[in-house]
Amino acid sequence: MLDLSSKFEKKLSKEFETKGFIKEKIPNKIFKEIENIFTKFIKKEIKLTKKYSNSYLLNNFHRFIGQKELNNFRIKLITFINKDQNFRKKFFLSAKPYLEILVGNELMMQNNINLSIQLPNDDSSLLPVHSDVWSGDSPFEIVVWMPLVNCYKTKSMYILPPKQYKKMEKNFKSLLAKDSEAIFKKIKKNLKWINIKKGEILLFNQSLPHGNRVNLEKETRWSMNCRFKSIFSPYGDKKIGEFFQPITLKKVSELAMSYRLPE
Ligand SMILES: [Fe+2]
Repeated sequence: MLDLSSKFEKKLSKEFETKGFIKEKIPNKIFKEIENIFTKFIKKEIKLTKKYSNSYLLNNFHRFIGQKELNNFRIKLITFINKDQNFRKKFFLSAKPYLEILVGNELMMQNNINLSIQLPNDDSSLLPVHSDVWSGDSPFEIVVWMPLVNCYKTKSMYILPPKQYKKMEKNFKSLLAKDSEAIFKKIKKNLKWINIKKGEILLFNQSLPHGNRVNLEKETRWSMNCRFKSIFSPYGDKKIGEFFQPITLKKVSELAMSYRLPE
């Protein structure tokens, strides 16, 4: 196949293919703006009077909220960030250069950005090992994952690298008959735990098995995730309108979609 992409594009694409993800820095200004939106909201919601640094507040959020109030708080915050089109733009802009290399430049963005807040030892928001494609997502989708705090070990997420997944595919049927905990135990030693710092962004292959565990570290994890796909690529269960919204449709495509050959 003729490949006219640049050296950098080739390098990034190869990395995504072999590791199942790429991890890149996002512009500092955008990250600071996003971090401030979150901490401002937290301070207002939990009526903080003492001054804390953004990083302390996020990492130690479990000291300010109980597990019972967490879900309501999370829903309020998700609603807040998602009604702001400008916030969606910031999120998109942080991943844009990499999405354009890996996915394309006419893009669909998920209608809602998801937020995960994992307090230490909290088992209420776990994602057992899964591949999104097994449950009906299109393999043409990609997930952008943005942490607001440094994530490592169980405070992060894991993914099964492509090489290991190839081995798993061979006895896929017998493996899928097991429950997800049994699958996890089976592939545990081959999993790659993502070590990622705040100010970085992860784009990962959601067709590879991934998930998280109870956060056994001493800090709270904050991360957002959002799906993107090329507008004119095949769809799975998640459809245009109800799930995806076009964000960078080009003029020629727009005109072409309404073009009718004169009779
Ligand atoms: Fe997933």
